[in-house]
This record gives sequence, structure tokens and C-alpha cells, in this order.
Amino acid sequence: MKPIYLAPLEGITDNIYRNTFEEYYGGVDKYFTPFLSPCSTFKFTTREFDEIDPKKNNIEDTVPQLLTNNAEHFLWAAKEIIHMGYKEINFNLGCPSGTVVAKKKGSGLLFYPELLDELLFQIFEALPSLCNPGQKIPDISIKTRLGKVDPEEFYEILEIFNKYPISEITLHPRIQSDFYREPIRPEYIDYTLTHAKAKIVLNGEITSISDIEKSETAYPDIHALMIGRAMIANPELAFHYKNGPKEFDMQKFQEFQSVLLSKYEERFSGDKPVLYRMKEFWAFWQQNYPSEEKVIKNIRKAKTISDYKNALRQLT
Ligand SMILES: Cc1cc2nc3c(=O)[nH]c(=O)nc-3n(C[C@H](O)[C@H](O)[C@H](O)COP(=O)(O)O)c2cc1C
Repeated sequence: MKPIYLAPLEGITDNIYRNTFEEYYGGVDKYFTPFLSPCSTFKFTTREFDEIDPKKNNIEDTVPQLLTNNAEHFLWAAKEIIHMGYKEINFNLGCPSGTVVAKKKGSGLLFYPELLDELLFQIFEALPSLCNPGQKIPDISIKTRLGKVDPEEFYEILEIFNKYPISEITLHPRIQSDFYREPIRPEYIDYTLTHAKAKIVLNGEITSISDIEKSETAYPDIHALMIGRAMIANPELAFHYKNGPKEFDMQKFQEFQSVLLSKYEERFSGDKPVLYRMKEFWAFWQQNYPSEEKVIKNIRKAKTISDYKNALRQLT
């Protein structure tokens, strides 16, 4: 049985979602925060701070993720995070968004191997100096794609990764221009498992217990599996993989939805941001309601929380 990680999904897996998920479902060994972008202000935004505030997050199983190409910014954020007690920091080298990539960040940084190498050198060299005497140096893990324009970029990228004591590499076997649409490129998984010094976590298009089991069989050396969209759609996935499959518990799922709704009503002011968030979830949840097209349409059309609740009441 492999550890299961919940993938970070910006705008979806925030601390409210992660905490509620753990309360209702669990089965997840690590939760990754959506990326935080440290910058020259040397301050986290309120939204970013919520993601790592030890009062609002479990420091034992939460891994803060950073997105930057600047060693000074990374190290500033890392120091703050280390002093909050977190044991691992994840470095985002996978984000495919055009604006991020244009700034040579996320998967955009993969196209500049010298810059990447220099950045990792500076991070790993300075890391011990960020800790208090006797404090354990935190793990630095990486979440990466194969490259920006060509998957063959990965050979050089992996050589760079191998120069540093990276704790885990989460491999999303696509290139930047594949976004999340194109098929994954499984032919690079075996190469990575054979040549990487770090432990390998597999991510991408794992959608069922059977997919998890197939990955375990095909790649026995995989350390863990990271699942994103399928776990939002079916939050029971990790728990049922670990504890044996059972029928989907619709009542529990509806309770989970309504607790999320009340928590977002508390966090945000006004109906709009709450509805925006709930509709993001429904893009995934709707697959659990194959014969409720009309209700799903009404949920999508809801302009107020009251419209939204009325639409939900029509679910059979
Ligand atoms: C809406 C959305 C937001 C995402 N945000 C992040 C993020 O903040 N950090 C990150 O490393 N990956 C992010 N990802 C990528 C996911 O973590 C994951 O790698 C991707 O969804 C593929 O895994 P899956 O097929 O299991 O969903 C995001 C993906 C989506 C669809």
C-alpha cells in the first residue's frame, strides 16, 4: 500500500477544504498547499498566510508549496515556514500557466537549466543557516513536469535534481504546453525511477482505485501517489483504497458539501465569492450526479446563496 497525497489545486484545496476533507474522509498522508508566491515585499498575503498559519493548519501533514525563481525570496519564505514547525517545503516547477511561465517560474523555469541549478544551489547551501541550533533541517521536495517544450529536456533537468538532497520528486509526466489536457507521457516514468536519486511520487490522471493499483503494479518503486482532480470528485478515494472499497456514501458527501458551504460563508463576505468557490467544486462533483443535469445547470446559474440552496433541494 502506497502513501497517498492530495495534490495542490489553487482555488480549490485551500485550508478550509483540506481541514474539512480530513475531518470527513482522510486516508491522505500529505496535503500540499496551493502555491504561495514569495516576492520582494517579504510578506505573505492574508490569503497565503491562512494556508500556513499553524492555528488553521495541521503542521504534521501539511506541506507548504512555494513558487518563485528567486533564491532570496524562497529562503525568506522557507525561514518563516520552518519557524512555524513545518517539516517539508515543496518547490513548484510544474505550473503551466502562461503568466507564470513567462516570468520563468513554475514549469517555465525548467527551460533555463543553469538558472534552475544556481537557484537550487543557493537554496540548499543556505538552508541549514535558516534553522535554530539543533533543529532538523526541513525536507525540500519538488513537483515538476518533464520540461517546457520537449520532454527530452527532462534528462538534463534530472541530472540537476540529482546534484541536490531533494527528499521527493513528484513527477507530473507532461510538458508545459500539454497543460492538463494532453495525454500523460508514461514512457518517462521508468527512466525517472531508474535515474533519480530522490524518492519518486507519481501524479497525473489517477482516477480510481484500479488506477492506483495499476500504478503500483507497473511501478513498484514508486514511493507515493499524488491525486488531484479525481479526489475532489470522489473524496472517498484514498480512504477506500486503504480500507477496502465501499459504495459511495451520498449522505456523507452532502453533509461535507454543506459544511464547506457554511465555512466559506463565514470566511468570505457576500454571496459572490462563496458561490464562485462552490461552483468550482461542482465542476468536479457533478460527475456523482449523472442524472441530475437540470439541477447542475441551476447550480451553475445561481446568483445568490439562496438560489444555490434552492437548486440543491431539487437533488433527488
Ligand atoms: C485548477 C487547478 C489548480 C492547480 N493548482 C496547483 C498548484 O497550486 N500547485 C501545483 O503544484 N499544482 C497545481 N495544479 C496541478 C495539480 O496539483 C495536479 O498536478 C494536476 O491536477 C494533475 O493531477 P490529477 O490528474 O490527479 O488532477 C493545479 C491543477 C488544477 C486543475
